[in-house]
Amino acid sequence: MDQRIAVDAFQRSAREQRGVAVDAELRAEGTENVFVAGASLPGATPCARLHARAVLSEWGLGELAEAAELIVSELVTNAVRASTAPDGHPRYDGAGMPVVVLRMASDRIKLMIEVWDVIPGAPAAAHPGPDDESGRGLMLVAAQCDRWSWQSAPGWPGKVVWAELHG
Ligand SMILES: Nc1ncnc2c1ncn2[C@@H]1O[C@H](COP(=O)(O)OP(=O)(O)OP(=O)(O)O)[C@@H](O)[C@H]1O
Ligand SMILES: [Mg+2]
Repeated sequence: MDQRIAVDAFQRSAREQRGVAVDAELRAEGTENVFVAGASLPGATPCARLHARAVLSEWGLGELAEAAELIVSELVTNAVRASTAPDGHPRYDGAGMPVVVLRMASDRIKLMIEVWDVIPGAPAAAHPGPDDESGRGLMLVAAQCDRWSWQSAPGWPGKVVWAELHG
C-alpha cells in the first residue's frame, strides 16, 4: 500500500471507526496529529518516537513524553515486525510497501495514541518467563497507560492498536 493510498484509507477508516469512545470525544473537542512511515524501514520507530516527543511538547504535554515515547516505540516496533517477512523484506501486499500510521489525539488532558498497521493478526500480551528476552512490549505499554486495546477498522486491511493516558 503506498503512502497516498494508505492515508486515504486511514482517513476513511478513522472517520468510520467506532468503539474507541474517548477517541470520538477527542476528535470532536481536541487536536490531532498523524504521522505515516514505511513500516518495514528501520527508521520507522525512532522517527515516530521523535515525532511524538515534538508533538507533545507543542501541545504542552511534555510531562507525558516519557511514557508516550515508550508506548509509541513498543507499538511501532510491533507494527514494523508484523510488516516484515522472516527474510527481512517488507510483506508487500501488491500495492507497495506496508505503512504504519501513528495518530495522536488530545484534549490537553487525555492523550490517545493509535498505531495502525496494514497486517491482519492480533497483538496478544505474552507471558514471558524470567529468562525470556522478549514478550514484554505490551506489558510495558499496559504499565504506562490507563487502558489499551486493539481493533480492526472498516476499510482498513490491518488493525489499530491504541493506548490512552492522562496528563
Ligand atoms: N501489530 C501487531 N501485529 C501482529 N501481531 C502483533 C502486533 N503487536 C504484537 N503482536 C503479537 O503480540 C506478541 C506480543 O507482543 P509484545 O510486544 O508484548 O512482545 P514481543 O514484540 O514479542 O517482544 P518485545 O516487545 O519484548 O521485544 C508479539 O510477539 C506478536 O506475536
Ligand atoms: Mg513488542
